[in-house]
Amino acid sequence: MQRLLQRASALRGTIRLPGDKSISHRAAIFNAIADGESTLTNLQRGTDVSSTLNCLAKLGVLHTRVNENTVRIAGAGLQGLCEPTDVLNARNSGTTMRLLAGLLAAQPFFTILNGDSSLRARPMDRIIQPLRLMGANIQGRANDSRPPLAINGRPLRGIRYQLPVASAQIKSALILATLYAQEETTLRTEPSRDHTERMLKAMGAIVKTQGRTVTIAPLHKKLRPLSMSIPADISSASFWMAAATLHPEAELRMENVSTNPTRTGIIDALKEMGADITVDNPRNQGPEPVADIVARSSPCLKGVVIDGGKIPRLIDELPVLALVGSLAQGETTIRNALELRVKESDRILTTARSLRRLGARIEELPDGMRIQGVGELHGSTVSTHGDHRLAMTMAVAGLLAKGQTVVHNAQAVAVSYPRFWQDLEQITAS
Ligand code: S3P
Repeated sequence: MQRLLQRASALRGTIRLPGDKSISHRAAIFNAIADGESTLTNLQRGTDVSSTLNCLAKLGVLHTRVNENTVRIAGAGLQGLCEPTDVLNARNSGTTMRLLAGLLAAQPFFTILNGDSSLRARPMDRIIQPLRLMGANIQGRANDSRPPLAINGRPLRGIRYQLPVASAQIKSALILATLYAQEETTLRTEPSRDHTERMLKAMGAIVKTQGRTVTIAPLHKKLRPLSMSIPADISSASFWMAAATLHPEAELRMENVSTNPTRTGIIDALKEMGADITVDNPRNQGPEPVADIVARSSPCLKGVVIDGGKIPRLIDELPVLALVGSLAQGETTIRNALELRVKESDRILTTARSLRRLGARIEELPDGMRIQGVGELHGSTVSTHGDHRLAMTMAVAGLLAKGQTVVHNAQAVAVSYPRFWQDLEQITAS
């Protein structure tokens, strides 16, 4: 499917964003091993979270859709999962594969985890190695570095381990495995998103964070089910924040957006660039903080340097931030973002290539990008490289560029934001 975009005359309205993807995966997986039923509202309907639900169904965990917005999960209990008769398919979802690998390493049965061609090219040694230190029997293709993964579940021991990269997926896989282990696990890690720690604590697990150390105790009791309303996804919100700040006639409002401090790097970066963004009415939704966000036209955006500890707080927002940098004054530099190379696509290469087609001046760096602001972008034909975040970045670029932009493979948005194109039509029509 391809989509045609024109420069929008104005961007206005209130957007109902999808539920946060990271929180949705976790709510589904943790409630699957809880003791009893949970009700999740605003659970994301993207294909990544459906992959998690499908895998859980093959492991014997039933879910029912109560209405468009609500899913009920029949928790099977800690020991209630059963051996699937078929391969589990995580499709495009790294979170599904890595978190489930941690959980399945400790189950008394055999599983194979596979994915689509993008996921089969992504590194899995980062979970295979520490899980093996815990005693796991887990293998992967390409010298134990890539999917498919074959897991013969068995009893595990606790470990002390320093994470090689600040990755919430590795951290969460090891936390899940430790719930079933014989001793506690201590992880040393640079900060990354902490939804797993918050949610499991709320369900009765013992997870302690002190500075750079996370300690997890094995579960000696049942996990309490956690019903919650999933906050709106700040990563989805970032496309509209970028669009509104860059457009001369814009005001966009988004409600109940996740403002977990491990995720709000995009708001900080945009504000540092001079963006007019307000964050109102802060409150909690279950174990997570949320707020209402309004983003408005911001005429004097300037370049920034994004590096070091800022990166994990906005890793998924870097493609759209490269677009903002392209239309800001001066230079924007992104460094220490090597992880971008192993996302759904090599996002340094695909972002730079796609935005350059619209006239952006972006130099690829080994671990980031150097972007020179240009006054204007011009429409062109671009591929999304099958990457949902690139598809949405290029759509926003198309709303700002002079002339017509054609986005190929536009259906890629369904991975995290199935209603993206409808929402785009709504804010450009009003
Ligand atoms: C995610 C963590 C991040 C992020 C991904 C979702 C998660 O990946 O890029 O989109 O839900 O834990 P890493 O943990 O590999 O950094």
